[in-house]
Amino acid sequence: MSEHSVHRSLEIYERARALIPGTTQLISRRPTRAALGVSPIYAERAKGCRIWDVDGNEYIDWTSAVGPVILGYADDVVDDAVRAQIARGAIYSIVQESAVELAEELVRIVPSAEMVRYCKGGGEACTIAVRIARGVTGRDKVLFCGYHGWHDWYQAANLGAERLAEHLFNGIEPIGVPRSLEGTAMPFTYGDLQELEGLLQQHAGEVACIIMEPMRSGEPPEGYLAGVRDLATRYGVVLIFDEVSSGWRVARGSAQEYVGVTPDMTVFAKAISNGYPMGAVVGKREFMEPASRMFISSAYWDDNIGIAASLACLRELERRDAVAHFNRIGALFKEQVNAAAAAAGLAAQCVGVAAHPSIRIEVDDPAEAAKVNALFIQENARRGVILATGFMFNCSHGESEVERTAAVVEESFGKIAEGLDRGTIDDLLEVPPQEESFRRLVS
Ligand SMILES: Cc1ncc(COP(=O)(O)O)c(C=O)c1O
Repeated sequence: MSEHSVHRSLEIYERARALIPGTTQLISRRPTRAALGVSPIYAERAKGCRIWDVDGNEYIDWTSAVGPVILGYADDVVDDAVRAQIARGAIYSIVQESAVELAEELVRIVPSAEMVRYCKGGGEACTIAVRIARGVTGRDKVLFCGYHGWHDWYQAANLGAERLAEHLFNGIEPIGVPRSLEGTAMPFTYGDLQELEGLLQQHAGEVACIIMEPMRSGEPPEGYLAGVRDLATRYGVVLIFDEVSSGWRVARGSAQEYVGVTPDMTVFAKAISNGYPMGAVVGKREFMEPASRMFISSAYWDDNIGIAASLACLRELERRDAVAHFNRIGALFKEQVNAAAAAAGLAAQCVGVAAHPSIRIEVDDPAEAAKVNALFIQENARRGVILATGFMFNCSHGESEVERTAAVVEESFGKIAEGLDRGTIDDLLEVPPQEESFRRLVS
């Protein structure tokens, strides 16, 4: 184990620190959010569920590119479709029939889809959906629940009293967000219908939409999402499901099919295209059609690569019965990680729906918990596994990867148990405590 080194990664990281503010573009990919000094930072290549770093280390990866990879890295079918598209041209002065084919496919698969718009990412898709909802209703206010990206409409929630702490993490300063947006975006608590109705009453006639992540790892409380649907209908508010992270994982038609609740609009990105930039806003005709009269327009949204990747990805998800695979692999993962916790004598559990569970290590003190999380990532990384307490399956994760990972996790849990018992977590930790990770609302 002592031979594991990320020297070359750390050298490149030093160069990056001088040139790239924050060093990565996605906050969740920042090395300070993993085990800086032990976790790999720079990849050489990836295939299936494996990543090779610039120091020549090989890892089983459970982060799946923070969500976009759902079939596996460098998937042959999607990449062949992309290569074929590149040979025909990435983008033209006019458009390609495939844009209509993808719309037809989304309308076939997703319950809320009658019309479709495209873009290039999740935050962008949310922003488009909110703009459409504001345009259709002529109202400004937004009620939200969950993470919806970096744009002003959403970060405006932190102008005044900080309110994103429950949804993301503490200490997000809305630097650069116009103060005039204060009071336009208000969070509500997942599972609390009374609070949501209170907000709808308090801001009666002013709310354009409710935008929310319908679920993540946990099963939604019985009847909750149907209750939200009912409130949105009664108060004449557009209901938007943000399925950027829940999309395609728990049911073919995503979380809305799984829970049997159909929103007015839905946003997708990330896994829709197995790693090629893409986002989609879908919805009922009455809400989507007015978008043709709004100024919602960008050159790369007609790019053919993301469309080719999405068509191939959605067809492969169906052909490979991805949801059944995630349920099968997830059940095994939960069972084996829970057995590892028991064997290591650590109060830890793998919880949530089988297709998308998460790991909980029971530590009360938040400062200690941050150290324990870093130690978990550190001990996994030095044994060739990229795994934090939150993770995403892809179709290339198989039984052998689960078994190898469970063996590693048992050793990592053992270290943590030893550190907690003896009060030596600080001594075991070779890296700074993990910066607070995204506190996902829907845990
Ligand atoms: C639910 C949800 N919405 C929006 C986003 C933002 O997507 P992007 O990072 O592509 O802008 C994310 C990304 O994690 C997400 O999980």
